[in-house]
Amino acid sequence: MVMIHLIPGDITEQSVDAVVNAANSSLLGGGGVDGAIHRKGGPEILSECRALRASRYGRGLPTGQAVATTAGRLPARWVIHTVGPVWSATEDRSGQLASCYRESLRVARELGARTVAFPAISTGVYGWPIDDGARIALNTVREETEGDEELEEVRFVLFDQRAYDAFTAAL
Ligand code: APR
Repeated sequence: MVMIHLIPGDITEQSVDAVVNAANSSLLGGGGVDGAIHRKGGPEILSECRALRASRYGRGLPTGQAVATTAGRLPARWVIHTVGPVWSATEDRSGQLASCYRESLRVARELGARTVAFPAISTGVYGWPIDDGARIALNTVREETEGDEELEEVRFVLFDQRAYDAFTAAL
């Protein structure tokens, strides 16, 4: 039975096996979670991201996909980078957002991670409404961890009260 926890705070301070990054397709850093992870995690993360760009992801990591690197100086073993969809009022991209959670969990399993921390993907710079983002996050993770014997804990690390309240309501 996988425990799902809502944690207020900073994802870079989570002592877990895998920290999920709300990256962009370049994998070369940015603001928000991405900026915090690279700043706190140090240059090793970026150099592994550059190597991924030079090898498997020459055109960047596609939206909805996930890939792992070292966690550098973070209190974690891996960072799983995933690219969320930008919110669109005219196109339903929910499937792409769900894919971020699903693919990140797949990569976590491949790594043998037992504990995983997620941010609220796409709900910042990418403009996804927090209530809907929380709903998709929790529903997808619940579905994907049903009957999972390996994974022990999934944390949603929520940076502000609004996000924490939205996830609490969706739980
Ligand atoms: N820990 C946990 N959550 C955080 C942190 C942090 N240190 N910093 C920001 N957040 C929260 C935001 O408040 C938001 O709820 O993470 C959520 C996702 O916000 P963003 O980091 O802006 O990610 P996203 O909306 O997916 O946009 C991705 O932003 O930073 C760039 O390079 C990134 O281009 C990419 C885009």
